[in-house]
Amino acid sequence: MLKKKVEEALNAQINAEMYSAYLYLAMNAYFESRTLSGFANWMKIQAQEEMFHAMKIYDFVHERNGQVVLSSIEAPNANWNNITEVFEDTYAHEQKVTGLINDLVDLATAEKDHATTAFLQWFVDEQVEEEANASKLLDEVNMVGNEGSALFFLDRELQQRVFTAPADNK
Ligand code: FEO
Repeated sequence: MLKKKVEEALNAQINAEMYSAYLYLAMNAYFESRTLSGFANWMKIQAQEEMFHAMKIYDFVHERNGQVVLSSIEAPNANWNNITEVFEDTYAHEQKVTGLINDLVDLATAEKDHATTAFLQWFVDEQVEEEANASKLLDEVNMVGNEGSALFFLDRELQQRVFTAPADNK
């Protein structure tokens, strides 16, 4: 059984993950509008990953006999000045999510909720990858610049990304 405090914090994280999906969909729409279909694809897959994160917590709350309470999802930004800005925001957002996950681990530990602490370890590891992916792409965009043939090839490369649910999932 989940303690109320932990249940509320997990519900808040479901909202944060759904907001992340919303944010990356907004970035997908921005890239679609600029006919950068590879970048758009990368963001669409990223949004799917975020929904996967949200649903993983959603299922866990139920498994622990808690109640999921859905709340309003904040509207994300709709426009950016250039590609670099999009990936600066992506990287900053992932760093923020890492902070949220760390706070959740702290809370679960303080409440002696070992099952939640163990469950959250998956997210701790996932955030290492999320930050690394965002940081790498920001570096690549900084290297190739916001236009030209190098950008065209990076866009092509990002077209290859596909969604695969992580294997280590229940
Ligand atoms: Fe669910 Fe991108 O962290």
